[in-house]
Amino acid sequence: MNPYKPKFVKIIKVEEMTSDIRLFRVDFKCRHRPGQFIEVFLPHYGEAPMSICSCSTQYLEMTVRAVGNVTNAIHKLNVGDTIGIRGPYGNGYDMKSLKGKHLYIIGGGTGVAPLRGIIKYAEQHPKDFASVNIFMGFRNPEQVFFKEDIELWQRMFNVYLTVDQPSKAWRHCCGVITTLLEKQKLINENGVAMTCGPPVMIKFVIKSLNAAGFRNDQIFMSLERLMRCGIGKCGHCMVSNLYVCKDGPVFRYDQVQDKKE
Ligand SMILES: Cc1cc2nc3c(=O)[nH]c(=O)nc-3n(C[C@H](O)[C@H](O)[C@H](O)COP(=O)(O)OP(=O)(O)OC[C@H]3O[C@@H](n4cnc5c(N)ncnc54)[C@H](O)[C@@H]3O)c2cc1C
Ligand code: FES
Repeated sequence: MNPYKPKFVKIIKVEEMTSDIRLFRVDFKCRHRPGQFIEVFLPHYGEAPMSICSCSTQYLEMTVRAVGNVTNAIHKLNVGDTIGIRGPYGNGYDMKSLKGKHLYIIGGGTGVAPLRGIIKYAEQHPKDFASVNIFMGFRNPEQVFFKEDIELWQRMFNVYLTVDQPSKAWRHCCGVITTLLEKQKLINENGVAMTCGPPVMIKFVIKSLNAAGFRNDQIFMSLERLMRCGIGKCGHCMVSNLYVCKDGPVFRYDQVQDKKE
């Protein structure tokens, strides 16, 4: 079977999240782990890797920010249109191995998307974890997405939000995400942190977590690199001797901290 051949499936839901972010649900049934990704193909435009942000065997959801050729074309699609999908790819999180832990889920901007699958898993298995603590940072209140999810998560878990530029109506924290982390008592014993966002954010999040007593083997991150094949063949995504597409995109920090790009 040709591993590059996508399966064409129907879009079954489209939801506008912000001015440039939309959630798409597609009729693609598969087993997958939170943190895995798919390659999305549009004829005449090309392919783009997208994180799976749902946790269901019945459909897949992805949150797409319109930044260029493929993603702008995806934004023009509606319910009933067809799209090519291959995957799921990458390692993702082994959620069963995190049973009994305090989860610290820390995302910035579109980096929140791959983390949603973890939180959806926790929604379905709330008793599996000692606590679920969600920290999310956005540029301003208009950029906040997953608003409906956040309302539910606020009822189930500990949720902390921050924006760089608040509006008058903003009732949460303001400042960078590390401000939020430093305000809370983080339980490093039996804790595990999962983070995704811009590289500079990740760097400072790790510093804050280390300062709170988290060892590097308690910190996981989803890396984003330019990708082509998605299956460990082309070498586009390599960081040192690792294929981000195949060995990742989820890495434990102690396993990548010394790798040079
Ligand atoms: C594992 C993985 C998961 C991802 N998950 C998501 C997701 O859930 N939602 C989402 O919106 N995006 C996600 N991305 C990023 C997404 O794949 C790119 O934004 C997309 O490929 C851009 O394609 P395009 O043809 O629209 O843009 P292009 O026309 O190719 O490029 C437009 C601009 O975006 C930049 N760009 C292209 N690819 C990337 C990239 N990978 N990272 C940073 N900048 C890039 C280009 O340099 C250029 O400046 C993910 C990327 C990876 C590797
Ligand atoms: S994208 Fe081709 S090897 Fe990773």
